[in-house]
Amino acid sequence: MIITKNIKMADVIHTNYFTLSVLNRFGIELGFGDKSVDEVCKKNNVDVDFFLEIVNAFVDKDYFPKKHLQTFSVKLITDYLQKTHDYYHKLKVPEIENLIEEMVDSCYTQKENIVLLKKFFNDYKQELLNHTHREEKIVFPYTLAIEKAYNSEESDNSVIELMETYSIEIFQNEHDNIEEKLLDLRNIIIKYLPQPKNSRLCNKLLYELFNLEQDINDHSRIEEKVLVPKIREMEKIITKRFAKK
Ligand SMILES: [Fe+2]
Ligand SMILES: [Fe+2]
Repeated sequence: MIITKNIKMADVIHTNYFTLSVLNRFGIELGFGDKSVDEVCKKNNVDVDFFLEIVNAFVDKDYFPKKHLQTFSVKLITDYLQKTHDYYHKLKVPEIENLIEEMVDSCYTQKENIVLLKKFFNDYKQELLNHTHREEKIVFPYTLAIEKAYNSEESDNSVIELMETYSIEIFQNEHDNIEEKLLDLRNIIIKYLPQPKNSRLCNKLLYELFNLEQDINDHSRIEEKVLVPKIREMEKIITKRFAKK
């Protein structure tokens, strides 16, 4: 089902409750009654077309109108990506850490199992932090500078100098698959750790890990399939402009 601006926002959540996290990133709170997607977005100062593309790409993995998503500004795309990073670090990671903490006493009798789980997730947290930090400090500022130069009528040599030191191709080549490690962690729990004493808690953790993995997967697709080609086009046009000078 493709989500359109006239359907009720409540039905978006009923269709797929994972969309709650997307709504959260756009700053949309619950309690919108029977208001449509369009009305709720307007009320929250959210670009409705951008919201629809993001939420549809999130719900249906085959719905990926890269071309349309690429029409939105780099600022809008990177703001969304930044909010997603915040959602991981401020909400999801602490939630998972709390769950693992709860498991300390109630899941595995042998201490080494929980130590292994904790260590694995801690290493993962650090890796995720390094990954998002690099994007926030290097990649997003670079893409914004490219967009600014692209939109500017005047040619400025500094952007050419910048493009000599970095390019979106470098990002593409070094962009690692950060979600893969979560699958390894799920496997440790499913296959290698002993039967947990409290399976409800263990299932909850597996569910959270699976959820985070899907979310990061969706996030990476936007980086690789929307942001990268958009910036590559801009880089090409900027280079051509300078060659003509
Ligand atoms: Fe990212
Ligand atoms: Fe990334």
